[in-house]
Amino acid sequence: MRASASKESMTMRDRVSLHSANKLKLGLFGANCSSGRAVTMVPERWSGSWDDNLRLAQMADRAGIEFMLPIGRWKGYGGDTDYQGATLESISLASGLLARTKRLNVFATVHAPLIHPVIAAKGFVTADQIGHGRFGLNIVVGWNEGEFEMFGVAQRDHEHRYEYGQEWIDAIKQMWGPDEDFDFLGQYIKLRKVRAKPKPYGGTRPMIMNAGASPRGQAFAIRNCDALFSNADRATLDESAKHVQRVKALAKEGGREIDVFTVGVITCRPSEREARDYYHHCVIENADWNAVDRILAMKNITPQTHPDDFIALRNHAANGMGGLPIVGDPDGVAKILAELSAAGFTGIGLSLVNYLDELPYFCAEVLPRLERMGLRAKF
Ligand SMILES: Cc1cc2nc3c(=O)[nH]c(=O)nc-3n(C[C@H](O)[C@H](O)[C@H](O)COP(=O)(O)O)c2cc1C
Repeated sequence: MRASASKESMTMRDRVSLHSANKLKLGLFGANCSSGRAVTMVPERWSGSWDDNLRLAQMADRAGIEFMLPIGRWKGYGGDTDYQGATLESISLASGLLARTKRLNVFATVHAPLIHPVIAAKGFVTADQIGHGRFGLNIVVGWNEGEFEMFGVAQRDHEHRYEYGQEWIDAIKQMWGPDEDFDFLGQYIKLRKVRAKPKPYGGTRPMIMNAGASPRGQAFAIRNCDALFSNADRATLDESAKHVQRVKALAKEGGREIDVFTVGVITCRPSEREARDYYHHCVIENADWNAVDRILAMKNITPQTHPDDFIALRNHAANGMGGLPIVGDPDGVAKILAELSAAGFTGIGLSLVNYLDELPYFCAEVLPRLERMGLRAKF
């Protein structure tokens, strides 16, 4: 991996490759929230504090991990642990972490309908200037009504959410571009005589990603984003491979390129038995089931609406609000990561029960295996 590119040499390719030549990029997902992604009551669960995030970002920076991706979350889920009840706002967090790291790319996950585009564009540029081109944007259009209520904003229906998102990103891209004193007159967003300076670092723009799962959400990503985040399931990895190919082909038809990333929930221990035991301890025996049930109810998943698969969905949500559980010894974990790469995924956002406690072992044992498999270069 190169150190962050100089202003003169930065290209959009540098940006979308996360300034790294590694075939398989790795990042940390969800560390800005208390409990991270594991819906567990174990006492070592993640704090989500600034100090822990900073230590984690600097550890990742030293290990050559490519990115950190926060969750866009405004309101916790309650339960016995108040799951994700304390969250750091992601543009401010990215700015702080970018100031204190050298190579790591840091994303902000931003709800388009909740943040005015002029404020958003300025916040992104500021973070990008601080990070010398290492800032990235993950756009979400929102699904949790309680978060919108808190802002006094009505949640639009699904179709109009993405129409609004389209205007929002069009306006932001125009602010990042050369236009001066322009009017932006959309159906939803009306801006007059817009002036937005400075521009993003190095004459390019931040990498943009989105995690739409519906056809409409994915079409939004294909049209506007450099990367789509999609969940993968090991039992249907062939399907995932086809999904990646389909998304890339659709982007190509529109004259664009897109990468597809996925989410892995890592439990890595010296033996597979230890890994399985810890996984069981955290997300079965000590799951915060009250929080899990609240999350599922928000998505209208109850024993009544899902009589056949409620238990499976419940267990999966405790694991990390979705994401592929990757449980094993270092050989087993590296093998699954390699399978995801072979299915076409460019990168994986990883989560751990306690990121700081568990990342050193992952870096010491799994990264060298990925290097030997040719998926990553020695850092
Ligand atoms: C990997 C991944 C990460 C996501 N992160 C967030 C997030 O941080 N905040 C949020 O409100 N929604 C998040 N979502 C939800 C998506 O933005 C989206 O609403 C969801 O996938 C449903 O897709 P749809 O909007 O196309 O129906 C995430 C989804 C996935 C798959």
